[in-house]
Amino acid sequence: MRKPVHSIEMQPRAVGVRCPKARASLEQAVMRAKAADMAGKDCVKVAVRVRPFNKRERDAGSRCVISMTSNTITIQDPRNGQNPRSFCFDYAYWSHSGFTRDRSGLYVAEEPGGRYADQGSVFQDLGEVILENALQGYNATLLAYGQTGSGKSYSMVGYGANKGLVPTLCDRLFQAIRTNEDSRQCQVFFSMLEIYNEQVADLLSRASRCPGGLRVREEQQRGFYVEGLRTVPCENASQVEQLMEQGTRTRTTAATHMNANSSRSHMLIIVQLKQIFCKESITKQSNIYLVDLAGSERQRASGSEADRLKEGTAINLSLTTLGHVISALADAAVGKKVVHIPYRDSVLTKLLQSALGGNSRTVMIATLSPADICYEESMSTLRYAERAKRIQNRPVVNESPTERLVKELKAENARLMQRLSRLGHEGRRAEDNTMELRRLLTHNELQIRAIQTLWEQHLQEALKDCELQYASITQERRMMQMYPYILNINEDAQLSGVVKHFIQDGDWDIGLADSLTRSISIKGLGIQEQHAVFSNVQRRVSLSPLAGSKVIVNGTIISQKTELQHLDRLILGSNSTYLFIGYPSERGGEDWSRYDYDYFQSELAAAEGIHIPSLCEEPAQGDSMASTGQTDPSLLAVFYDYIKLMPMVSEANQMSQELHKGVEFKLEIKNLALSDSKGHDLEKEIAVRVTSLENKQVWLWSKAKFVNRKFLMEELYQQHIADLKGEGAGGEPLPRDRDPFWDPLEPLLLGTAHLWLQSLAFRIALEEQLEVLGSEGTEEAILQAKLLPCTTNGLPLGEDDILIDPSELLRRRLDFQLVLDQCCGLRWVKQAKNRGVQIGFRMFDSAQPIYTPAVWHNVNPLLDQRVHFTSLYTSQTLLDHLQTSALVLELWGLQEGCRELLSSMEGVRMSPEGCFIIDHAETLETAKTVDSGSELSCSLSALQQDVQELRSSNAALRTENNTLREQLNTARNESGRGPSERRGSSLRPSCDAEFARALKVFYHSMTSVRGQLQRLRRHRPSEDSDMLSLRQFVDEQTGLLRDFSELLEQSVSSLKQDVAAIVRRKRERSGIWP
Ligand SMILES: Nc1ncnc2c1ncn2[C@@H]1O[C@H](COP(=O)(O)OP(=O)(O)O)[C@@H](O)[C@H]1O
Ligand SMILES: [Mg+2]
Repeated sequence: MRKPVHSIEMQPRAVGVRCPKARASLEQAVMRAKAADMAGKDCVKVAVRVRPFNKRERDAGSRCVISMTSNTITIQDPRNGQNPRSFCFDYAYWSHSGFTRDRSGLYVAEEPGGRYADQGSVFQDLGEVILENALQGYNATLLAYGQTGSGKSYSMVGYGANKGLVPTLCDRLFQAIRTNEDSRQCQVFFSMLEIYNEQVADLLSRASRCPGGLRVREEQQRGFYVEGLRTVPCENASQVEQLMEQGTRTRTTAATHMNANSSRSHMLIIVQLKQIFCKESITKQSNIYLVDLAGSERQRASGSEADRLKEGTAINLSLTTLGHVISALADAAVGKKVVHIPYRDSVLTKLLQSALGGNSRTVMIATLSPADICYEESMSTLRYAERAKRIQNRPVVNESPTERLVKELKAENARLMQRLSRLGHEGRRAEDNTMELRRLLTHNELQIRAIQTLWEQHLQEALKDCELQYASITQERRMMQMYPYILNINEDAQLSGVVKHFIQDGDWDIGLADSLTRSISIKGLGIQEQHAVFSNVQRRVSLSPLAGSKVIVNGTIISQKTELQHLDRLILGSNSTYLFIGYPSERGGEDWSRYDYDYFQSELAAAEGIHIPSLCEEPAQGDSMASTGQTDPSLLAVFYDYIKLMPMVSEANQMSQELHKGVEFKLEIKNLALSDSKGHDLEKEIAVRVTSLENKQVWLWSKAKFVNRKFLMEELYQQHIADLKGEGAGGEPLPRDRDPFWDPLEPLLLGTAHLWLQSLAFRIALEEQLEVLGSEGTEEAILQAKLLPCTTNGLPLGEDDILIDPSELLRRRLDFQLVLDQCCGLRWVKQAKNRGVQIGFRMFDSAQPIYTPAVWHNVNPLLDQRVHFTSLYTSQTLLDHLQTSALVLELWGLQEGCRELLSSMEGVRMSPEGCFIIDHAETLETAKTVDSGSELSCSLSALQQDVQELRSSNAALRTENNTLREQLNTARNESGRGPSERRGSSLRPSCDAEFARALKVFYHSMTSVRGQLQRLRRHRPSEDSDMLSLRQFVDEQTGLLRDFSELLEQSVSSLKQDVAAIVRRKRERSGIWP
């Protein structure tokens, strides 16, 4: 049996430990705690749960990469079928398949005894453990860890009928309390808090949020605690549910006010259980921490390391520190020397100190998405869980010193009473003593009463509060059956449908203002004091935006009064999203849950012309998309990136406007095919274009950089709001280099052009007019480029050097020049004259890209660049590259004040003539064989032996050969057809030469055909053309088209004629035709 020890105190201390005896007993308790410390170690229990596919995953045709047998989880790398990884945990829950939804909406196993783990079975293992521990007087902690959307909140809190661990735990706790009523008196306190950006917010507080959040303090006995956190005494489970509802509502409104992302916040519920065993005169108390952690995906920098500004100071400090603490503890558990456990580095780890390596029984539930696209995240969750399960805690039963004090005060009172009665017998002499004793007695009694009444008093207050809450909930339910209303929709499903605003008869102003009589007050980015007006006339509801405010209905911006229909989607301001619910008579039995956050954003994107089909416009080569009806998962990922970033961009724009930053953000879909040397990769990527409104400077941010910056912007914005309210520290304006809206100017990749290298494999010169395409398909410029095969000293090759068979190049030297003559029609410079450009490219395996010198202020600048490349010993790899790939020419935009791109010579090889050497790896290979003399000499003698043997067999073969030749000659003379055969073989080269010439002619004519095609492509009507000029355009177009087809016909038919002539001649000469 473990001995009871000191506790972490729960109540505001009504009585100090002034009584010397109480202090002594406390010290004893601490001693006992230390003794127990040496005893029972207890490892963190870890459970893993995998959820069903969500809509996105189903749309993407995801495969499930997780499998489970008993407590072993196996995860399969979708790109590598060979390499499954298995992990073993205390519990493994299969909630992915084999379930059905019953009438009450409960997810249950399809068949009795099926493998599906429902909420009940998860509770049976994990919840019961926690409950049992708490009832025994241990501290207990339950942590949910996993990426956003993996099911943490589903497991912890639950959705609808599928109640999670917390409500069920509370329900069962009160049941247990009632069962044990005879043996103990119990007190339950409930608190709920959120940690966002290292700030603690009390989710149950009735007061407004204090700037900077609540303080986390440390006391020796109590450890870390949140100062001033509201702890609500509770008597039953429905009271707890109400408090949770209240907490979620606070969380939701705070998230919209501060446009904070709930997936970055940690939600903590603290249930404090105090059990007073009257007969034994002991009190056990335990703290139950129930933690829904922030999404684990933020833990990695997700590419933002490229950003100049470090990630938001505290965006994931708590989660990162939790990781560090867990790692350190896991190392310590396997006997590694660990000097320091960084509990103090973050708010979360301070509060969870006892849960991790301390006085608590701890359970972690790690939640996983089943989908292949989440493989990396799931793998990282499993590794994390694997580490967590090694952590050893030292839980002890807690006994409250406060109760001991009551006991001791009572004992002391009894003694005082005895002394008093004795004094009474001793007469007046003792009067003074009596007075003193009575004073002590009263003092002690007051203290006892204070301890005992505190609970009663608080409970009464809390119950009153609860009744009020209950009344307002009942009122809300009634209103829902009477009036239409708008329902909040949040990115986090857990926070959706929490806030309702009713639209009763008449006109209702909606906006920031809350002082108006007929108003609905909402807060959020881009919401005006008076934003719009709802009017409900004769059971018809319409919405009219007020001047300057943004209102979107079903994806479209409205500027006039618009009548609303049941289930219309509203976006007010930057991103306050609501679903309109009509009068009860209009509500069918439809499923509202399909109108989730994704639905709103997809609808908005569709209105901008971005939807999945539009992203698939250029089907991939050999793509089976249409046939399978399945969207390419990578395109789907791009689409979801787009709709995820869209509201964030809108919010960033609003913040920029309010903070007078003068920059505008715009989403772009970059087509990565443009920088692929094979040109057929369909990958796309989201980027954010940042433009300064004043001087048109432009930056292009990656998604990761934007997400990081957005967080920093939010921080800045919150500061600004606090300053406006006079709550902030004021302080200096942010220096420019720490401003998330600012960046130094960098050269910008405007677009790329592909110069195909195939002609080099035949040593044919190529002259091209290349279209430089921007990532969104815009024509950025026309680039005149040449590829000229040449001699080692740069003289052009003649037509006779053309090769029929490229393999003739193998292991021979190849020299060629890339000439960039001119860039025409630069869109970048047309937009602002004070700009410049450079062209960058990297030939085959060059160590560094080469950049042309910068040319400024010119729409059609001459480049006049000639670069000589040489391959000294052409390899098969280079030959393949020439035949299948293009040189990607990048057009870089320069802006005034930005650095120019410089070609670096690091690792670049030059030939003695000053040419850039390519195909270097192969040259090295050959050099190596020549160089490694020592190895060669070793095998030299062996080779010489071989050579000797070969020589003798050669001599034998030669003799045999001569005999055979003689026999053959005799046979030829007999048949009489020998001479023509000989002639045929001697004619061969001249036929090849003719063929080469024909090809050359064809090739040249094809170049003009291509030029004509490019002219056709560029020929577009001007944007403001009228009917007349359109007609003229069509005529011109027809002319161009006719020329084009004539040219093409001519080229093809002359090739046909030439080839036919060659074939005919060849046959004539070979004597097939007489
Ligand atoms: N075990 C499960 N069974 C059914 N649906 C689930 C399960 N786990 C999660 N979900 C659903 O997945 C979505 C995201 O889950 P949620 O718990 O909110 O994720 P998290 O809190 O990890 O971000 C919710 O719509 C939820 O209903
Ligand atoms: Mg959640």
